Amino acid sequence: MPKPRKVCIIGAGNVGSTFAYTIMQSALAREIVLIDVDRERAEGEAMDLNHGLFFTPPVTIRSGDYDEIADAALIVITAGAKQNPGESRLELVQRNVKICRSIMDEIVSRTSDAVIVMVTNPVDVLTYVAQEMSGWPHGQIIGSGTVLDSARFRYLLSVHCHVDARNVHAYIIGEHGDSEVGVWSMTHIAGVQMNDYCEHICKRTCTDEERNQIVEQVRDSAYHVIESKGATYYGVSMALERIASAILRDENSVLTVSLRADGHYGLRDVCLSLPAIVNHTGIEQVIDASLSRAERDALHKSAETLKGIVEKIE
Ligand SMILES: NC(=O)c1ccc[n+]([C@@H]2O[C@H](COP(=O)([O-])OP(=O)(O)OC[C@H]3O[C@@H](n4cnc5c(N)ncnc54)[C@H](O)[C@@H]3O)[C@@H](O)[C@H]2O)c1
Repeated sequence: MPKPRKVCIIGAGNVGSTFAYTIMQSALAREIVLIDVDRERAEGEAMDLNHGLFFTPPVTIRSGDYDEIADAALIVITAGAKQNPGESRLELVQRNVKICRSIMDEIVSRTSDAVIVMVTNPVDVLTYVAQEMSGWPHGQIIGSGTVLDSARFRYLLSVHCHVDARNVHAYIIGEHGDSEVGVWSMTHIAGVQMNDYCEHICKRTCTDEERNQIVEQVRDSAYHVIESKGATYYGVSMALERIASAILRDENSVLTVSLRADGHYGLRDVCLSLPAIVNHTGIEQVIDASLSRAERDALHKSAETLKGIVEKIE
């Protein structure tokens, strides 16, 4: 039986350890276990995190091996090689498929009860590979997808409109990567459509050119951060905390996680991000909203890109 608030993090690098740091402060987990091929790194990270426990709600943090997974409620996979400067997420694919397969072997021999959140890039492709290897219901294995990209989108729109990002509702869907799609038709601020909000409330233009620039900025954010500091980990850890909370607290939250499309938006047999209700089972339901023609075409193009990569995997 899974322990309700036991979280195993596979990969104790930048993202894995920052995610642990994030959830130790939010009372989300009762136990956090860091598993890494580099055992010393995992031990060091666990030790460092434990030294902050005096300042947080009670939680047990340790490094461990794969046997810890047997009773985990949530497994977050951040293990793998990361993007080198200038390298696209998709170029990472073959290296990380191999790592993903070896990790899934360890997981499926020990449990079938946890929800798995894939973070390692290319996240959509690896979510698909993990689902194929597991034989579990597809909704139980999801990718962090474009939850981070949607947060970046909301942040940039909040700056554009001078309003709290939490009042901006906007989604990035499709690939977590170069072919991702900004969904303007679903974008609103406090229930007011973006165009109307800009024209009547914040009195700022929102031309097609400005819109394209905002989506480009979202899409290229990771490249800029990686060029400047080598890796991205704060934003993604906050996004992961949000996903973990939806799962562990059974929140039925709408999040753009990477999931297996099964006829949604006319797509099938591909993992990519769509707005979906997330709870303790993983995916409860995909929200099949109506998109503009251009958005739907772009989403289908994104799906084709991902399918093309999956077909090339050895
Ligand atoms: N999906 C997203 O939004 C998002 C955002 C940021 C980073 N990422 C991805 O997350 C991954 C991790 O990034 P990072 O910056 O933490 O990298 P990192 O190099 O700091 O950490 C990766 C860790 O994985 C470990 N590892 C490698 N092979 C392993 C294996 N077989 N078993 C267990 N552990 C193994 C390494 O020892 C290392 O500690 C990358 O693929 C990166 O592209 C995804």
